[in-house]
Amino acid sequence: MYSEKVMDHFMNPRNVGEIADANGVGQVGNAKCGDIMKMYLKIENNVIVDAKFKTFGCGAAVATSSMATELVKGKTVEEALKITNQAVAEALDGLPPVKMHCSNLAEEAIKAAIDDYKRKNGLLEDGESDSNSCSRRCDDIHRIDDDE
Ligand code: FES
Repeated sequence: MYSEKVMDHFMNPRNVGEIADANGVGQVGNAKCGDIMKMYLKIENNVIVDAKFKTFGCGAAVATSSMATELVKGKTVEEALKITNQAVAEALDGLPPVKMHCSNLAEEAIKAAIDDYKRKNGLLEDGESDSNSCSRRCDDIHRIDDDE
């Protein structure tokens, strides 16, 4: 049911943990299943030089988090914002249709972390946001602020 790549990233997830001096941190949750993903980015000169994650969730959520951190490393902020849940799933050689929604967490976590980075660096106008702009219908995905 799962591709070898999904199983590999689930059994041996890359980039698990926190980045102490991350300058972009985003946390998102899926209201339906309760799964949560937190993404830490270290961004220098507009390039993502490091990415780590912590995910409390299903196997597909762990695997897509792992792949998402691999995909964003070395990318510019603009390039990272173009990564869709579809692209994350394709990089894992696909997900079963019933688990595609899990990849929405990864796309939204990237966007939430970049949003945080932009906000901290005065790069966002009031009210502007890169998150909640998922290319799919992500009605179930919501951002979680640290004080929640
Ligand atoms: S079942 Fe919740 S993210 Fe997969």
